[in-house]
Amino acid sequence: MASRTVSWLLARSISSSGPRSALLPRGKKLGLVSRGGIHRYNSTAAAAEEPITPPVTVPHTQLLINGKFVDAASGRTFQTLDPRTGELIANVAEGDAEDVNRAVAAARKAFDEGPWPRLPAFERQKILLKCADLVDKHNDEIAALETWDNGKPYEQAAKVEVPMFARLFRYYAGWADKIHGLTVPADGPYHVQTLHEPIGVAGQIIPWNFPLLMFAWKVGPALATGNTIVLKTAEQTPLSALYVARLFHEAGLPEGVLNIISGFGPTAGAALASHMDVDKLAFTGSTETGKIVLELGAKSNLKPVTLELGGKSPFIVCEDADVDQAVELAHFALFFNQACACFCRTLASAAALDLVHSCTKKYTTNLLRKPRRVLQDAQSAIHSRPALNKALRYTSNKSFLTLTNSGSANFLKAGRVDSEQFEKILKYIRSGVECGATLETGGERHGSKGYYVQPTVFSNVKDDMLIAKDEIFGPVQSILKFKDLNEVIKRSNATRYGLAAGVFTQNIDTANTLIRALRVGTVWVNTFDIFDAAIPFGGYKMSGHGREKGIYSLSNYLQVKAVVTPLKNPAWL
Ligand code: NAI
Ligand code: MG
Repeated sequence: MASRTVSWLLARSISSSGPRSALLPRGKKLGLVSRGGIHRYNSTAAAAEEPITPPVTVPHTQLLINGKFVDAASGRTFQTLDPRTGELIANVAEGDAEDVNRAVAAARKAFDEGPWPRLPAFERQKILLKCADLVDKHNDEIAALETWDNGKPYEQAAKVEVPMFARLFRYYAGWADKIHGLTVPADGPYHVQTLHEPIGVAGQIIPWNFPLLMFAWKVGPALATGNTIVLKTAEQTPLSALYVARLFHEAGLPEGVLNIISGFGPTAGAALASHMDVDKLAFTGSTETGKIVLELGAKSNLKPVTLELGGKSPFIVCEDADVDQAVELAHFALFFNQACACFCRTLASAAALDLVHSCTKKYTTNLLRKPRRVLQDAQSAIHSRPALNKALRYTSNKSFLTLTNSGSANFLKAGRVDSEQFEKILKYIRSGVECGATLETGGERHGSKGYYVQPTVFSNVKDDMLIAKDEIFGPVQSILKFKDLNEVIKRSNATRYGLAAGVFTQNIDTANTLIRALRVGTVWVNTFDIFDAAIPFGGYKMSGHGREKGIYSLSNYLQVKAVVTPLKNPAWL
C-alpha cells in the first residue's frame, strides 16, 4: 500500500472486491438496537441481504487516564451522534480542565518516573509493532466504529484508513531504535556530542475529518521518541481513539503514557494548550483555532506548537495536460472526503478550459445521475431496512457519500459533520451565485435528512470571490481560467494558505518551474493525495507550522542537547 494513493486504494477496494461479506457469515443479520442508552450493531435485529459490517459495540465512552477508563470529574457527558440520522450513538464523558490536569499529571509521572522513556528503544519498537498488529486484528470493528461515528464509508475506513493507521505505527516503530545524535568537531580540546532526547509530555488536539489518521500522525512519532501523551479528540468523533488506545494498552503500553480526553475545544482543548506541564503541543484543525492554541501555548509556558491548519489548494491544469485524467483526479480529490488538502481551486489554462469544463461536467453528472438509486436506497435504509449495511457502506453525512457503480468508483461528497458546517457551506454557495459565478452542477441540499450537500461546481470564478478565497470545507469546486505560467504562479500564491498544490502538465520544464515557485508544503505532479507514512505533510503561511509524518515529524518530539566535555591529551581532534 505504501506507494499508492488513498484514491487508488479506495477505487480498487470498492470496484474489485465487492461487499465485505467475509466479515460475517452469509445470512447473518445486522441492525441497530438500543441498550442502556447506547446503540450497538447487533446481529439479529434486521434482515440483511449483504452483511458487510461486523457487529460493533461502543465499549468505551469514558476518559482514558493513567491506563484506566474513568468518568469526567464533573460527571458530565455529551452526546456523540450518528451523522446520518442525528440519533444518539452514545453519551461520552465530557473532559474538562480538571480532567486535563489529571491526565497531564499521569503523563508527567509516566515520563518522569515510568518505564516508557527508559525502555531500550528496541522494546518500545516491539510494543509499537504489537499495537499495529492488534489494530490489524481488529480492523473491522475499528472501521465500523469510525464509520458510525464519523460517517465515513465503511470501505474507506476498513480498507484504506485503518490499514494506513497500522502502517504508520510500523513506520514509526522502525524509527524508534534509529534515533541518535552526532559527534560534533569543536575548535578546542573538547568532546562534543548531541543527545536527541524525548521532549516530555506532548499535548495533541485532533479534528473530526480523519480521526484515526490524525491520531496516528501525532501519536506515532511521539511514542517512538519516548514521550508521553495527552490527546484530545474532536467532540464530533470521540470513539475510535478510545478503542485503539485500549488496544495499545493491551499491546503493553505502560499506564499514563497515552491518555485520551474527549471533550470540547474551548474547555478541554484550551486547558491542554495552556497547561504549564505540557512540554509540546501538536494541533490539527482550523486556522482560526490554530491561532488560539498558539497564543495559549505562548501565554502559558511558551511550549513549542506544531500546527496543521486549513488550505485553499490550487490544482493547475496546463494546456498540455492529460485533461481528462487531471479533471478526474481533481474531482476525486475534492469529493472523496473532507480534507484540508482538497483541491477546491481548479486553475485551468485558457487553452484547456473548454475541455476542463466538459470533463468536469462528465464526472459530476455521472456522480449525480448514476448513484441516485443507491443514494435513495441508502437514505431510506437508515432506520430499519435491510439495506442498513449498504447505507453504512455507501453513505456519510458528516463528510461525503461514496457510491460505486458498474465496477468503477464514482464519488459524491456531501456536507459534513453538523448543521453549523452544513449551513456554512450553503451560504458560500449562495455567495458564489450572488457574485456572478456560474453554477454548473449541484448547489443544493441533497435529500431531507442529515447534512448532505450536492457536489457543487462553479465556473467563471474570479479570485476576489469568497468561494475562491475562503476554505469552505465542503464539496464546492471553483474553476478559474489562467493565461500563462507567471500569472498562475502569482494567483496560486495569492492566498493566506499554503498547504498543497496539484500540477498537471506533460512538460518537465513547466513542472519544475511550478514546483519551485508554489509556496506550499506539498506539490503533487500529475497525481494527488499520496499520503504515505514517510512523506512529510504540513503547510506554509497560515496553513501551519512544522511537518507531520516522515522523518521530519520526529523532530517535533525531540530536544537536542549539546554535551561538551574537555579532552585531556587527545590523540587527535
Ligand atoms: P476546530 O479547529 O474548531 O477544531 C479542531 C480541534 O480543535 C477539535 O478537537 C476542537 O475541539 C479543538 N478546539 C476548538 N477550539 C479550541 C480551543 N479554543 N482551544 C483548544 N482546542 C480547540 O475545527 P472544526 O470546528 O472541527 O471545524 C471548523 C473549520 O476548521 C472547518 O470548517 C474547516 O475549515 C477547518 N478544519 C480544518 C481541518 C484540517 O484538516 N486542516 C480539520 C478540521 C477542520
Ligand atoms: Mg469548532
